[in-house]
Amino acid sequence: MVKVCCIGAGYVGGPTMAVIALKCPKVVVTVVDISSQRINGWNSDHLPIYEPGLDDVVKQCRGKNLFFSTDVEKHVSEADIVFVSVNTPTKTHGLGAGKAADLTYWESAARMIADVSKSDKIVVEKSTVPVKTAEAIERILTHNNKGINFTILSNPEFLAEGTAIEDLFKPDRVLIGGRETPDGQKAIQTLKEVYANWVPEEKILCTNLWSAELSKLAANAFLAQRISSVNAMSALCEATGADVAQVSHSIGTDSRIGPKFLNASVGFGGSCFQKDILNLVYICECNGLPEVANYWKQVVKVNDYQKTRFVNRVVSSMFNTISNKKIAVLGFAFKKDTGDTRETPAIDVCKGLLGDKAKLSIYDPQVTEDQITKDLSMRKFDKDHPAHLQPPSPTSIKQVSVVWDAYEAVKDSHGLCILTEWDEFKKLDYQKVYDSMQKPAFIFDGRNVVDVKKTREIGFIVYSIGKPLDPWLKDMPAVVA
Ligand code: NAI
Repeated sequence: MVKVCCIGAGYVGGPTMAVIALKCPKVVVTVVDISSQRINGWNSDHLPIYEPGLDDVVKQCRGKNLFFSTDVEKHVSEADIVFVSVNTPTKTHGLGAGKAADLTYWESAARMIADVSKSDKIVVEKSTVPVKTAEAIERILTHNNKGINFTILSNPEFLAEGTAIEDLFKPDRVLIGGRETPDGQKAIQTLKEVYANWVPEEKILCTNLWSAELSKLAANAFLAQRISSVNAMSALCEATGADVAQVSHSIGTDSRIGPKFLNASVGFGGSCFQKDILNLVYICECNGLPEVANYWKQVVKVNDYQKTRFVNRVVSSMFNTISNKKIAVLGFAFKKDTGDTRETPAIDVCKGLLGDKAKLSIYDPQVTEDQITKDLSMRKFDKDHPAHLQPPSPTSIKQVSVVWDAYEAVKDSHGLCILTEWDEFKKLDYQKVYDSMQKPAFIFDGRNVVDVKKTREIGFIVYSIGKPLDPWLKDMPAVVA
């Protein structure tokens, strides 16, 4: 029996290991974490993360060949393959602050593996790391010269939150990078055999270590760049009367471009895109490639611009003042079907609206009041560190209320902002919503969820990203940040 241990029971470690356990009954998988809260969650009926289909997978294997534990050292020492899926957030201070990856958690995991190991191990980078991290990790693993053979592989994860289980069941590809030495190639083969239990062989790509590490950063940079490209186009659509949905559809029919990932929105979020691009920018700068660094930096700048543009639109439409006006915020997670709020555009939009002294009433079907309060009071980049290292948050924020119903959120509000594309926001009774709001009633749709024609007929003044402007909005002078 192959014994697998995964360090880090988060959004990646939990679902990936659950699927490995399900698909490989002969492999014993233990997921370990320093956070007892997370582990208790994984061992309970209320898993610590929301992901469609995850409950079912965990129920089928937990207690059989899938285990969750805080006894990190024991399980690492017993494993043949150790996946490391810990946080790799953006550095908040020191050299490279605001750009470089903070490898503190990775390094401490590697030192612990070196200290507790008594037998040879394959150590797998599951976290997204800068290129050449494997070299540093190899040095750490072998620092105490115990004669144990550690072979390092890079096996970056490409799942998307919200569709993680689907993505893991049917991945576009699995990428395994290793050293071009006999040991490296043997380790690649061992890991390949694990995935081959359910992934077709032609979809398991094997490369050298550096290509695998860089491919993950490159994939996220390309995906984010696509969103920033369509979002940049959405600003031009609003200025010219073109409709971004029509433009996206037209360009997406070109097979070289393709139709996916071309939806305009208030901006991308999630724990990875911004962090990985900033990291890429830093690596380019360190390698003396400022032009390449600036190219990728622009993807993040356009994303920030899109969020600022949205806030400016809200303020300018509502007579240039939102002071003490109730504004409903529908959706806080960074996308639908997840409760994850890391780097969600809702944080910057809400902070922008609060900066203009609006009163916010926020509703998201998967995000708790505690989480929203934490997010709105935290500094940028603090969020992606393990929970027990995050600063304490206030119990409430003046001007913000969090409610558990969309109709409650919009009642007596002057405007509503849709910031996450939850399906239920498409199905709201917008006549009922309109009747309960102050007039004129505004919709600011940051996800192109509402039917613009129908809601305008009801009487709303509607702003929808990249769509031809409501005559009302055309006449309002733009606010300059
Ligand atoms: P997460 O924050 O949900 O989980 C990381 C876990 O590692 C935490 O529970 C933390 O307590 C634990 N941890 C940190 N240091 C530890 C240590 N020394 N020993 C034991 N446990 C430790 O993070 P998430 O989202 O799972 O991301 C992990 C990595 O995967 C990151 O590098 C991320 O960039 C990458 N990734 C994330 C994706 C996502 O959609 N969230 C997708 C693909 C890659």
